[in-house]
Amino acid sequence: MRKLTYFVGTTIDGFIAAPDGDPGFLFPYVTEDYLPHLVGEYPDTLPTPGRAALGVADVPNSRFDTVLMGRGTYAPGLADGLANPYAHLRQIVFSRSLTVSPDPAVEVTTEDPVTLVRKLKQEDGLGIWLCGGADLAGQLLPEIDELIVKQYPVVAGSGIPLFHADFSPRSFQLTDSRIFERGNVVLTYAKAAE
Ligand SMILES: NC(=O)c1ccc[n+]([C@@H]2O[C@H](COP(=O)([O-])OP(=O)(O)OC[C@H]3O[C@@H](n4cnc5c(N)ncnc54)[C@H](OP(=O)(O)O)[C@@H]3O)[C@@H](O)[C@H]2O)c1
Repeated sequence: MRKLTYFVGTTIDGFIAAPDGDPGFLFPYVTEDYLPHLVGEYPDTLPTPGRAALGVADVPNSRFDTVLMGRGTYAPGLADGLANPYAHLRQIVFSRSLTVSPDPAVEVTTEDPVTLVRKLKQEDGLGIWLCGGADLAGQLLPEIDELIVKQYPVVAGSGIPLFHADFSPRSFQLTDSRIFERGNVVLTYAKAAE
């Protein structure tokens, strides 16, 4: 069965964006010692313009073939004219306010996220990437099989958290860790057996 992976960048204190939703303060931490790792290991997660700029536009998907986004995650790119941000993936955006998809390559859905993910997991193919954000990740927490946390060496104090969810502790098992010279850490966790 295919896995759901929440692959996400965060501060040390667990914020994925500023309180106004802007993740831009994290971008300077994508340093030259770390970028090759991201490009080499996770090219599927790079947006279409980034793939072209980094010379991996034609690299076949190896890890993911589907991406899930909440409207809060999709909308900033859309506002900048990027209606089809991950053209190499099947793109599913959860939204009740977007009644028409802005691009034929993007599926907009109001289906219950857990129900949809359970269906997707039954299909053949590569993994399912949960891009975010906190609202969608909070609803999908019970379905997350793998968590890849790209932790940047910064404390934000407040912002959009990794998950918007009720208090519901769930254990994960650390399966891999990578530490980079400039302080970035990539932690991979698998859902612990219940
Ligand atoms: N650091 C990173 O790696 C990273 C990655 C991803 C995102 N982010 C950040 O995360 C922020 C967005 O997170 P967020 O928590 O505010 O929003 P979000 O989870 O991306 O999206 C929330 C929106 O998704 C729709 N939605 C959620 N559940 C739904 C359901 N069950 N059915 C239908 N639609 C549903 C609703 O849209 P409607 O209002 O249209 O109904 C809701 O307002 C952004 O600022 C982004 O920059 C950071």
